[in-house]
Amino acid sequence: MKNEFGAENVLLAEGEKSVLIVDQTKLPNVVEYLELKTLRQMYDAIFELKVRGAPAIGICAAYCYYCLAKAKEDQPMEQFEKDLREEKEYLNSSRPTAVNLSWALNRMERTFLSNREKNVPEVVEILKQEAKKIQQEDIEMCRKISEYGLSLLKDGDGVLTHCNAGPLATSKYGTALGPLFLGKEKGMNFHVFADETRPLLQGARLTSYELQKDGIDVTLICDNMASIVMKNGWVQACFVGCDRVAANGDTANKIGTSGVAILAKHYGIPFYVLGPTSTIDLSCKNGDEIVIEQRNPEEIKSKFYREPMAPADVKCYNPAFDVTDHSLISAIVTEHGICRAPYEKSLAVLLQDGEKFVG
Ligand code: MRU
Repeated sequence: MKNEFGAENVLLAEGEKSVLIVDQTKLPNVVEYLELKTLRQMYDAIFELKVRGAPAIGICAAYCYYCLAKAKEDQPMEQFEKDLREEKEYLNSSRPTAVNLSWALNRMERTFLSNREKNVPEVVEILKQEAKKIQQEDIEMCRKISEYGLSLLKDGDGVLTHCNAGPLATSKYGTALGPLFLGKEKGMNFHVFADETRPLLQGARLTSYELQKDGIDVTLICDNMASIVMKNGWVQACFVGCDRVAANGDTANKIGTSGVAILAKHYGIPFYVLGPTSTIDLSCKNGDEIVIEQRNPEEIKSKFYREPMAPADVKCYNPAFDVTDHSLISAIVTEHGICRAPYEKSLAVLLQDGEKFVG
């Protein structure tokens, strides 16, 4: 199933009153669409990672915002505004680390407020167009990131990636996986090592699935095998996505990412972060200011096992993300160019100059 932009993972359902997502928790065994009609269903889909990956969360949230507005288009403006603001806040609380969630919801709210003098059905139509624009921009953004990222690779390179930053996590191409798909289109070949990404296995379930489906050479490894493939000389670059980039370049991404960066430094392998400028949050001075989502211990103890693999009452620590220190990052690849250290300067210039930026 595809929408007008060719995106398959998040789309408006027929009638344009609800959101359809590929349920990523069912992959790779079953490709199943889930319809999100109510606020609760929308919240749960994001919280339970049925839709996941920072840009995809943002796109889904934008469509949800529009559908919530559509459901109350008969209301008087004051009531409409009050209800929509409360629903937005609730949706925004579903996951704290990926800044794209609040970025997209705030953009939708700004669009609403700047058209508040119109009548409600007119506003609702404008919100639909804005949500579509966010998705379309994401496709273009991924394409540009893919081009910049590809310039960092040579044909035949080995690339290690962590978690999933492919089309499922965005709208098309992906960020960290984008250069690999684009390179394939241009006849290049890469050897990809996909970390399985404990505890929710985004690398095993999603990255290896997406790459294999496209005919890209992928080898799945457990997270604790990254060091040996690097030591063997099989990895020429690490490509990862991001959920929030602080002003100094410290980057939050899936738990385990910072360990990969430390290993890469040890073995002299460049470590690249790829993500849209919507992921850069200059209001966070450094990584210490990024809120890290803590998740249910059952994800570690039992989620993917037939029976629990730890004592029922053992203490667990289950942060969903970690922060990679900027000193370990060789470059941050965005749709406007490639930023290098010092990131305080290059990220600020990038956000100011946009298209004019040359990395
Ligand atoms: O918890 P998840 O699966 O949403 O975490 C996803 C990641 O960490 C991705 O690397 C990041 O969101 C970038 S996706 C283009």
